[in-house]
Amino acid sequence: MLHSKSSALFSFIALTSLIPSSLCWGSLGHRTVAYLASEYLTPNGSTYVANHLNDEDISEAALFADKVRHMPMFNYSAGWHYIDAEDDPPRQCGINITRDCAMQGGCIVSAIVNQTARIMNESTSHADRGQALRFLLHFLGDIHQPLHTEAGERGGNAIPVLFGNKHTNLHSIWDTDMLVKYAGAEEDEKANALTWAKKLYAADQDHARSLAAECQDLGKAAECSLLWAHEANKWICEYVLKDDVAGVENKDLSAEYYDGAVLIVEAMISKAGRRLAAWVNALAVHALESRLGSLNGLSYIEELILMQQDL
Ligand SMILES: *[C@@H]1O[C@H](CO)[C@@H](O)[C@H](O)[C@H]1NC(C)=O
Ligand SMILES: *[C@@H]1O[C@H](CO)[C@@H](O)[C@H](O)[C@H]1NC(C)=O
Ligand SMILES: *[C@@H]1O[C@H](CO)[C@@H](O)[C@H](O)[C@H]1NC(C)=O
Ligand SMILES: *[C@@H]1O[C@H](CO)[C@@H](O)[C@H](O)[C@H]1NC(C)=O
Ligand SMILES: *[C@@H]1O[C@H](CO)[C@@H](O)[C@H](O)[C@H]1NC(C)=O
Repeated sequence: MLHSKSSALFSFIALTSLIPSSLCWGSLGHRTVAYLASEYLTPNGSTYVANHLNDEDISEAALFADKVRHMPMFNYSAGWHYIDAEDDPPRQCGINITRDCAMQGGCIVSAIVNQTARIMNESTSHADRGQALRFLLHFLGDIHQPLHTEAGERGGNAIPVLFGNKHTNLHSIWDTDMLVKYAGAEEDEKANALTWAKKLYAADQDHARSLAAECQDLGKAAECSLLWAHEANKWICEYVLKDDVAGVENKDLSAEYYDGAVLIVEAMISKAGRRLAAWVNALAVHALESRLGSLNGLSYIEELILMQQDL
């Protein structure tokens, strides 16, 4: 019964994965973030991921949130992919959590806090922890896409632009087109993501130091994710809409605009991968420590001593 239910769910997921999604870092971006994170994982972090994902490829797991967002049973998660900053670019950027995080359904910041708490909670089932990790793999990516931290023009979805000969919109080129132009065609997406991730990892001169500089205090999920969102949002004023809507609307952005943008994309993908790894490594340490903690009441040694006294 349970089995047939979940295989029905999986065929639904398989079906929906054929529908291209254009609302988040595209799948190339998410896969790259996930592969980059796995380069930075500690051995305990890798084990933690493999256990929670039942050995599913990490880049595949990072796409879960996009695959389910339009399903009725996951529709509560649709608003978790972004935060709608009601700021005023390019004059003024900034996030105000009270103003911008949807009171009803939440936003990407509250979702990261919630899913972090959920995966750390010992009464969460293994399956639900796997789901929480899949959400985190995705949202720690999206929170680094500048247009996922902006309400104006529906995060750029309502701004028509050209990319070469293609008629598209500003949001979409930041999710997908610019990344594909930079890292390679979609047909070889997994291989291209892995190559890109390895290149970003190799470009970092001091892995331990970069990791140590990132948030790893799981009790500060709100502060950390707000900081990440702020950083992404700053790029809206500094680059994405620096010449206002008029500067990009109906323009071909595949040349000069792309040349500047791709540096930002690269920096943000790189931060996302590193921050995701620091976060997951911290979750793994927490999981190990709480397992040790649960033995503290009566340690193995004490138990052995008591047993010997009985003999
Ligand atoms: C999700 O779907 C249910 C039932 O169709 C609906 O009542 C609810 O408002 C939807 N929630 C969101 C956040 O869209
Ligand atoms: C944030 O938004 C709330 C609600 O709109 C407002 O009351 C508050 O003054 C804002 N805070 C800042 C620092 O602008
Ligand atoms: C936290 O996540 C769970 C499941 O993913 C969801 O049911 C719940 O409504 C969320 N809570 C908040 C406050 O977003
Ligand atoms: C853990 O989850 C249980 C069941 O959903 C809930 O009642 C409890 O409040 C959670 N604990 C924490 C610390 O979030
Ligand atoms: C992580 O794993 C290693 C063995 O690979 C172990 O020695 C170490 O104590 C583990 N725990 C933490 C918290 O890193």
